[in-house]
Amino acid sequence: MGEGSTDTPQGVGRGGRATSHVPVLLKEAIDFLAVRRGGIYIDATVGLGGHSYEIAKRLGAPGHLIGLDKDPAALEVAKGKVVVGRSSLVVGESDWPTVTLLNRSFAEIAKGNKPATIDGILADIGVSSLQLDDAARGFSFQADGPLDMRMDPRGERTAEQVVNHLDERQLADVIYEFGEERRSRRIARAICRSRPIRSTAHLADVISAAARPMNQAERRIHPATKTFQALRIFVNRELEDLQALLEAAPRILKPGGRVVVISFHSLEDRIVKDAFREGASNGYLSVLTKKPVTATELESDRNPRARSAKLRAAEKV
Ligand SMILES: C[S@@+](CC[C@H](N)C(=O)[O-])C[C@H]1O[C@@H](n2cnc3c(N)ncnc32)[C@H](O)[C@@H]1O
Repeated sequence: MGEGSTDTPQGVGRGGRATSHVPVLLKEAIDFLAVRRGGIYIDATVGLGGHSYEIAKRLGAPGHLIGLDKDPAALEVAKGKVVVGRSSLVVGESDWPTVTLLNRSFAEIAKGNKPATIDGILADIGVSSLQLDDAARGFSFQADGPLDMRMDPRGERTAEQVVNHLDERQLADVIYEFGEERRSRRIARAICRSRPIRSTAHLADVISAAARPMNQAERRIHPATKTFQALRIFVNRELEDLQALLEAAPRILKPGGRVVVISFHSLEDRIVKDAFREGASNGYLSVLTKKPVTATELESDRNPRARSAKLRAAEKV
């Protein structure tokens, strides 16, 4: 089990805006990863570096932490924390591992014929507070911004293209499949009638007018929540990337190496559960979490984002 102490990363976002991000299920993730000093670890979703920092602290020299993120803005913030930052104040520079940060999708881990050299992989998937809080990135219906939603600014499709160019049926399918939104057809029809839609506020208004809550559960969340989730997942190919990572993990992990995934909605959690179950039935993974690990009440109270988090872990046999 890892050490109990954890830090909260602070960084500076685009335009010098201070950002704070509280890593979710930090102690649990680090404990399940069971970091071996001097090993090779992949943080597939560096974000603002919260989990990476704790991994690096335990890894020490001559360990190697490879951190990936699709979002170059996140890596800029993480760099200060994980590569230089406070590292030397904590353990001394000589005992800090080599840290390589790469602006790549974790789906790329699946490419090529890589040898089984990795001691552990962490993936804390989904969107970061840096992305959500920046209206110009277009992830949130809470603030008006362009309909972008790309984690990787070089990504080939934006939410604006999806919203304005898919036909009504395709759009309804996306909203249903990736948002599990029962009102998908009604919403898709309203979107198509309101085109062109260029901003998050305009889209949220169109959805709110089309999809009145039908029961108490629907009244508890903003009517646009599920559609925005669906568009984000589709724009960023999130489920395909996750599948690719989970297929590659058992190939690149050393025996005894661990893969830990934190997900934030049922679609992702199902993919992780099924992949681990398949790995176990084929005899190349041992599942360490019979049920997903969730946040304590205290963590959920302090960090609302933790409420929906589910952690699953497995070990390469
Ligand atoms: C929830 S945040 C990670 C937060 C991080 N664990 C921390 O403590 O700061 C998720 C990050 O994963 C990145 N991401 C999502 N999908 C990705 C993918 N396929 N490849 C690489 N990074 C991805 C996002 O850009 C985002 O920065």
